[in-house]
Amino acid sequence: MSRTLVVLGGSGDLTGRLLLPSLAQLTALGGPGGDVAVLAVSRQDWDDDAYRGWARDRLAAHAPEVDDGARERLLARLGHVRADVTSPAQLGVALGRAAGTPVVYLALPNTAFLPTLEALAVIGLPAGAQVVVEKPFGRDRADARALNEVLHRLVPERSVFRIDHFLALQTALDVLGLRFANRMVEPVWHAGHVERVDIVFDEALALEGRAGYYDTAGALRDMLQNHLLQLLALVAMEPPHALDDTTLPARKADVLRAVRPPADVARDTLRGRYTAGTVHGRRLPGYAEEAGVDPSRATETYAEFTVTVDDPRWAGVPFRLRTGKALGTDRREIAVHFRPAPGLPFAGRPPEPDVLRLRFDPDGIALELNLNGAGDPYDLERHVLEAPLPPRPLPAYGILLRELLAGDSTLSISDAEAEESWRIVEPVLAAWAAGEVPLLEYPAGSAGPTRPGTADR
Ligand SMILES: NC(=O)c1ccc[n+]([C@@H]2O[C@H](COP(=O)([O-])OP(=O)(O)OC[C@H]3O[C@@H](n4cnc5c(N)ncnc54)[C@H](OP(=O)(O)O)[C@@H]3O)[C@@H](O)[C@H]2O)c1
Repeated sequence: MSRTLVVLGGSGDLTGRLLLPSLAQLTALGGPGGDVAVLAVSRQDWDDDAYRGWARDRLAAHAPEVDDGARERLLARLGHVRADVTSPAQLGVALGRAAGTPVVYLALPNTAFLPTLEALAVIGLPAGAQVVVEKPFGRDRADARALNEVLHRLVPERSVFRIDHFLALQTALDVLGLRFANRMVEPVWHAGHVERVDIVFDEALALEGRAGYYDTAGALRDMLQNHLLQLLALVAMEPPHALDDTTLPARKADVLRAVRPPADVARDTLRGRYTAGTVHGRRLPGYAEEAGVDPSRATETYAEFTVTVDDPRWAGVPFRLRTGKALGTDRREIAVHFRPAPGLPFAGRPPEPDVLRLRFDPDGIALELNLNGAGDPYDLERHVLEAPLPPRPLPAYGILLRELLAGDSTLSISDAEAEESWRIVEPVLAAWAAGEVPLLEYPAGSAGPTRPGTADR
């Protein structure tokens, strides 16, 4: 079946920095997505040649590793149409240029999702068409519902692809292999053996000029509501009988339905905003002084909450999710803390609990264990079994594009997951907006905010 990838928002940062470079890599590798025609749509007064010129520059900047031949083959398949995509008439003309079945990718500001989907619903899409929606999927549960309602009028659920690129990160995929392809892991993967799980995405990167988007989103909406809850779902879900587009999203949705939002917002959540400081030798202004930031919005650059998964497997186990910008150390990992072993033969010194760490960027896996001390048969020493994982040939967006262009939505967020994720975070957003939890300050380059009156982090 011939398809055209129609990128609404074809002149944007996402398209230039992630989508086109991924398409160039797919072109170089061959296979699904490697020869798809691409029609970009934006309000720029560009013809095909002008667009190719813009795309050539973006590829030179963001896909220098792809050989010239593959880049040129992609450029030859690119076209551009000028349209306001919220206008059904203009969007209809633009889609009329797409040969074959369209895969319509909304690479638009998320405020444009609903009017654009409404415009698509007026025009209608041919059988077999797919619709791809970027994140964040609305600003709250009501928004997500409204988006789902229009999407369901447009195409069947399995033809919708809600993007969360974390699902295509190697370490996220490794959760599946680790849990379901190893005899020794799954039997201990429950509350009987696991004491707590930390899902951490601490970054040294600061705002990096993205105030336009970030200042109205904040860390909770940008990271926890989608990416980190998806990681929680992969860690906590029941074993799927298959990895396909009905089973995997359904197992993840079951977990999200069982997540109880933070019980006590003052105790179970933490929010902060960085002040001026130095990160890796780079002097940074405070977030409130960054260009484009409105300090009165009180946008958080650090967000943390602890939830439980109220199902028979996980009852009582805290899952702590946290993320922050401008922190002193990059720490991106899922850390599974096991309960301590009884340690009876090692009287006087209880063994430290085992910890399994799945690390992101650089990807790796580490298992912290107790072994006998060198030369002393009765003492214990801590050892780390560590394996770095090699870089992959395709970045996350490349994997997602390859899958969706092959018509497979297994790595998409489902309608139910999108709405459940908002259900979990809405009480936190409401409590923060009402000032029930203080917005703490932390210097850029530090380890993040500490709870008032404690050294807790
Ligand atoms: N950038 C990233 O790193 C990144 C990462 C993950 C997710 N995302 C998500 O990806 C989406 C796009 O982000 P972005 O950073 O690429 O935004 P952006 O740089 O602001 O680009 C927005 C694009 O949408 C187009 N557009 C907006 N309104 C339009 C309209 N009415 N008719 C036609 N075109 C319209 C713009 O075209 P004009 O030239 O006509 O203005 C531009 O091409 C957002 O949902 C964002 O949250 C972005």
